[in-house]
Parts: sequence; structure tokens; C-alpha cells
Amino acid sequence: MFHSRDEFLNDVFLTLRNYIHESADNHPVIKVCPVEKIKELLPSISSDGVSEDALLKEIEVILDHSVKTIHPMFLNQLFGGFDKTAWVGEVIASLLNPTMATFEIAPVLTVIEKKVVFELLKMMGFDRGEGVMVTGGSNSNLLAMLCARTEYGPNIRLTGFGHNRFRVYVSSEAHYSFDKAANITGIGTQNLVQIPTNESGEMIPEELERIISADLKEGYVPIMVGATFGTTVMGAFDPVVKIAKICETFKVWLHVDAAWGGGALFSKRFAHLFKGIELADSVAFDAHKTMGTPLITSFFLTKHAGILKNTNRGGGSEYLFHEYDNSEWDTGTYSLQCGRRADILKFWLLWRAHGTEGLIKRTEHLFDLAEYARLIVSKNPRFKYISSNYLNLCFQVVPFRSKMDVNTFTLNVRKSLVKEGKSLVNYAKRSDGTIFFRLVFPNHQTQSSHIDVLMQSILEIADGLDV
Ligand SMILES: Cc1ncc(COP(=O)(O)O)c(C=O)c1O
Repeated sequence: MFHSRDEFLNDVFLTLRNYIHESADNHPVIKVCPVEKIKELLPSISSDGVSEDALLKEIEVILDHSVKTIHPMFLNQLFGGFDKTAWVGEVIASLLNPTMATFEIAPVLTVIEKKVVFELLKMMGFDRGEGVMVTGGSNSNLLAMLCARTEYGPNIRLTGFGHNRFRVYVSSEAHYSFDKAANITGIGTQNLVQIPTNESGEMIPEELERIISADLKEGYVPIMVGATFGTTVMGAFDPVVKIAKICETFKVWLHVDAAWGGGALFSKRFAHLFKGIELADSVAFDAHKTMGTPLITSFFLTKHAGILKNTNRGGGSEYLFHEYDNSEWDTGTYSLQCGRRADILKFWLLWRAHGTEGLIKRTEHLFDLAEYARLIVSKNPRFKYISSNYLNLCFQVVPFRSKMDVNTFTLNVRKSLVKEGKSLVNYAKRSDGTIFFRLVFPNHQTQSSHIDVLMQSILEIADGLDV
């Protein structure tokens, strides 16, 4: 049966509202379901369309079998939680469905994006810089590599590399998107050099200096250092003040991947983590990681006005980038994309709703949660503490009776935890084979009572497996 448009929208909205209410305590975060069962649940594409009643049922099946990333016990990835204002921004953005390429098509949203970028640039100390929203932290890191390439050789965009042997340096804990960027930019993944880290997972600047010097002697051309603020697994912040000095000496672009660590920007207690950011040439910041906006809400920010256009321009003038009043507001010429979603609206509404102080309060709450969990882990002999930096807590679960090694035991506890479905927490593996829980706190919905439930579950599962 086909409803009127309003009836269908009302029904969908009620279904979504129920989903939001059910993504809370006492409801599972995940219903583990074999792929064969999922295939059975989903009908095949048919030559005739189906009724809206049938579609509504299908929407319910999709919701029911998807992971509830907005649930307070979803602590698996570097994003999560639900903010109604941000979500409304997402809905409106897709309804308006502009492309951010030109001011003509997205006049209001372009101004909103510029306003937010301006605020973020100020926070970085890049007063005369520029920025653009991108498709994620990965894309931001890619753009940084391209800018570094432009800074070294403005014509490489046109002529290709020639015989240059470029090198880019990141820590051994840096995000894998740098590998992808080295591939895509043509720099080559072999020329992405991993600098060793200390026990806390921070890049060792002396090693960086030594390796760059050695590379220069070998005829390589160092063009960029990618430091990280908030590494993916350990949450480490690279010592950017020392790294910036090295970059200055060797004249290389300094990019800071603060995709995850950007949360510290919205904290008073942890603002010191951002010390030295104004020394960077560019920064990646993902609001969807710690601010509670839906994926994707990412920014690339640089202090060098003009570099984005020099790096990304090319084509489109015959049909898209016309000369018109306000065409200087077009952002398409400094983006890698043509069509670009209005990702800004969710962050704008969220920031307007909570104000900077509200966002700071929410972020401080995340730091409180991390500290709360750290105390539990450090006090209980069942847990072996590995590290805690920023919003990342890494620990293992120790067997008392079982002969199983601690890595396998930790992995088995995590497997049972996923099956139980009450919470979702990821694990990581170090290059030395150490396997551990990587508990992260991006989710504003999470309260200390949820941490209690999580830890209790882990302890009960560990007791059950420890035979
Ligand atoms: C440090 C760091 N940089 C970059 C990224 C990539 O971000 P995105 O998923 O937005 O592409 C991640 C993802 O978790 C990350 O942890």
C-alpha cells in the first residue's frame, strides 16, 4: 500500500525515534548475525517496486541488525554517540543537497563553512590561513602531502615528479592513511619513512633528525613530516615544538594529524596538549571523532593562504566555476572533490546549540571518563595496564588459573564480549605481538555507570574463561 508522502515520512520518523530511544541502556549495541542470515533477511532487487509498508519493515530490519554506534556502550571506534542538533543538521544537509563547489549553489552553507573554518584557524593560531572540509582525516592527510609537494615544486601538479626522490616522515604509530596518501600522491609507500617512537608512542625527534640527515646524504628530498596529535591506538601526542625546529632546519612542511587529538582543542585542562600547533603548516581535524557529529565532519586547515588553490585547481571553468558576483567565495577550486556534501551544517548547529563552553564541558567529560576507567584498570590485578594517553586506555586481561597466554586470553575475552552484545570495545596488536583492549572515549553519551557495567562484564567473562 502506498501512503501519502506525509504519512510515509511520519512513519519513518517514528521508526527512527524508536531507534534512537532503543539505542540506550538495556538494549544491545550489536546483534552478532552470520552473513548468511543477513543475506536471507534482505530481499533481492526486484523489477517491480515494493509497497511503503514493506519498505518500512525493511527499514526496521536494517536498523535492528546494524551496530548501534549511537549507544553509550559503543566505545569501539574513534567516533560514536548521538547529538540531536548535529543529527538534524545531517538531515537538513541531505534535504538541501547542495554541492559545496560553488557559492551560487550553496550560498548560506558556504558562508557557514567559512565562518567555522575561520574559528578553527584562529584556534590553531593560523590567523591568515585557509581551510576546507574534506571527506575525512585520511583525505586531510592526503591533502597535506599534496600541499607539501606544491610547496616544494609548484609545477609538479602539471609536470609530474621528474626524477625527484621525495621522502615523507611519520611516526611508527601514525595512521595508515599516510600510506595511502604516499601511494596516491606518487611519492611511494617506500618513501614514507616511519620514525621510531618512545614507550608512550611519541615520535623521537632525535631519530627524525638523524634519519632526515642520512636521507639527504643519500640524495633523497625530504618534503614533509606528518606529526600526530592523538595516535589511533595509544593516543600519543608527538612533540611538535621539537619537530617544528627540525622541519625549519630542513625546510620541510609540517603537518599535524589531529584528526583524533583535536578534541583537546575543546578542553581547558588539556589545552597544553596542543602547545606548538601554531608552528605547523597544516592540521587535520575531525569533528566527528570527539564532538559527537555524525561521520564525516573533517577539516583541513593551513596557515598558507593560496596553497589549496595552487594544489587543487584544474578544470571546471567551462561549466562550473563561472565569473560572477561572489565567485571568489567558491570553494570547489580548492577542494579535491567536485560534488561536496554540506558536512558543515551538523557541526554548525551543534556548536550553535552548545556554544564553545558547552563543547568544552562535553569534552572534559570524556577526559573524566578516561581517568575513571584508568583508575579501575590500574587497581584490579585482573587487568594489566599498558598505557593511557589522551582518550585512549590500553590494557590486557590476565588469566589467573588458565594456562592460556595473556594475549590469547585477552582476545578470547573480547570475542565473548562482542557475542554478549552489551558493549563494543576494540582491540589492537602491537608489532611485538602484544594484544590488548583499546578502550576509547569519543562518546558523550557514555557515563561512569556504563564504564562500571563494561568492566563488570569483562571481569565476569574473564572469570568464566579462566579454567
Ligand atoms: C590519527 C588518525 N588520523 C586519521 C584518521 C582517519 O580519519 P577518517 O576516518 O576521518 O578518514 C584516523 C581514524 O581513526 C586517525 O585515528
